[in-house]
Amino acid sequence: MAKKILVTGGTGYIGSHTVVELQESGYEVVIVDDLSNSSIDVLDNIAKISGTKPAFEQFNLADKEKTSDFFKRNQGIEAIIHFAAFKAVGESVQIPLNYYRNNLVSLMNLLDCQREFNVPNMVFSSSCTVYGQPEKLPVTEATPRKDAESPYGNTKRVSEDILQDSVKAYPELKAIALRYFNPIGAHPSALIGELPLGVPQNLVPFITQTAAGLRDELKVFGDDYNTPDGSAVRDYINVVDLAKAHVTAIARLLDGKNKANYEIFNLGTGDGLSVLEVVKGFERATGEKLNYKIVERRAGDVEQIWADTTYANEELGWKAEKGLDETLLSAWNWEKKVRGIE
Ligand code: WQD
Repeated sequence: MAKKILVTGGTGYIGSHTVVELQESGYEVVIVDDLSNSSIDVLDNIAKISGTKPAFEQFNLADKEKTSDFFKRNQGIEAIIHFAAFKAVGESVQIPLNYYRNNLVSLMNLLDCQREFNVPNMVFSSSCTVYGQPEKLPVTEATPRKDAESPYGNTKRVSEDILQDSVKAYPELKAIALRYFNPIGAHPSALIGELPLGVPQNLVPFITQTAAGLRDELKVFGDDYNTPDGSAVRDYINVVDLAKAHVTAIARLLDGKNKANYEIFNLGTGDGLSVLEVVKGFERATGEKLNYKIVERRAGDVEQIWADTTYANEELGWKAEKGLDETLLSAWNWEKKVRGIE
């Protein structure tokens, strides 16, 4: 009998890639998503890849009654991977209360239901944004968190605190927080990928939309940072590698291999790349010439951050495998598929 996993936010970018990896590892998946930032068509595309269309229910997890009713009707869930959250950094500055209410009430409703319906395990989608601009690089899991640059980032930090306090108070609960660095790329099938609504905030979707002719030019936000080529440095991780880490974390909890009831892992490649290196990598990998211009820095950006992946490699037994060129090519193939470009 396949073990049943609830994936909240499972029609989203990282969620959909994780659903595919869970199914291909033999798990039964049920998705809850409010479709506020994703399309229901993702379900059919997941089925085209894995052969199985996941069960799906549409509602917002900040609604306690609907969330509790879902668990009443879906017994036997062994673990939750919780992606569902608002995640636009800039938007969170404009409407902070929507972000705190949605992201934190959803998590607390899930934790209440975990206790009421005996669902002990949670893998939580956190972010390297909790580190702010670290004093020392690369970043380990012991690197102190800093005040977040945005309400979005603060909801991730507070969510981690809620998890840590909850597993202390309720020993039946176990949680793993996965701190993502910068997820990029798409499934090799080009059937699922990142589909930002409106103007993309993130670098790689803006690059692929520029190459596809949807945007006139990429604006590179600053080349006066204290980095090798002056542009800001990040740790870009392939979304399929990231998805596989979630399957590893779920197995760790289900097999009781966790060494504490609350664990944290950095999910990065361990390599820092500048914006201009990503631009050149895109041109190299795709043969496309990218139109870009250097402009002033973007408010709230950190100068550089990348992960020390030793703990995830050794303790979690997971390592990012896909390189930059393969990953950028997958993003481009996905963009071309979405836009009907040959
Ligand atoms: C990367 C680099 C930009 C767009 C954010 C969130 C983080 C996570 C990932 C959710 C920066 C530069 C970008 C553009 C550019 N999201 N850039 N021109 O800001 O590192 O992280 O997204 O979990 O929590 O904070 O990602 O892709 O926006 O930017 O020059 O048009 O690309 O300045 O240096 P970021 P990003």
